Amino acid sequence: MIAPLRLAVLASGRGSNLQAILDAIGDGALDASVVGVFSDRRKAIALERARNAGIPAIAVSPKSFETRDAFDAALFAEVAAVRPDLIVCAGYMRLLGVAEVEAWHGRMINIHPSLLPRHKGLHTHAQALADGVAEHGCSVHFVTAELDGGPVIAQATVPVLESDDVDALAARVLDREHPLLIATLQLFSARRLCLDGTSVQFDGRPLRAPLRLAGMDLREIDA
Ligand code: GRF
Repeated sequence: MIAPLRLAVLASGRGSNLQAILDAIGDGALDASVVGVFSDRRKAIALERARNAGIPAIAVSPKSFETRDAFDAALFAEVAAVRPDLIVCAGYMRLLGVAEVEAWHGRMINIHPSLLPRHKGLHTHAQALADGVAEHGCSVHFVTAELDGGPVIAQATVPVLESDDVDALAARVLDREHPLLIATLQLFSARRLCLDGTSVQFDGRPLRAPLRLAGMDLREIDA
């Protein structure tokens, strides 16, 4: 039997992706345990969700440190202490230190609200609307030193409607973020995904194109 995946979650705000993880574990849909939730904001709702679930909730405030490097080192010392198999950045809104990204290479993922490589960074829904794209969505990718630039594992798409504003589009995307993240974590939990250099390995062979969410399941698509 494979041991349940130990997850550390980094979140800065609302934590709906964290809640989706906790719910999936609670429902028996995901064989994992969240061994710690970490935030750069003391008041993050994500921390409250963790406490409600009896999970260690740790805030590390950037203001308490003189440099970004010192903050990152302190935060990741806390993360390392819970011995996660995988770190999940779920709405963590701060740049990560290169040293930490390298130390956790292949063991840290991020969920980003766009179809990467399009619309990196902030305000992704506004970017998509400004570009006039017909399709938008969300991506789960391995974290590398390049912001939102790491190898993409899986994506979910949504249509962009004529009537959309940023809020309507963000809500439609968020609705797909949760099943996308859970389906991806199910594959990690089954030890079916890993990173070899810059290549995502799925079932022991290179993934030629990101997996695509269809309903609640991930499918391989042709590159
Ligand atoms: C999500 O859209 C996530 O993709 C982005 O920030 C948002 C966080 O939402 N990086 P939540 O905190 O999980 O509710």
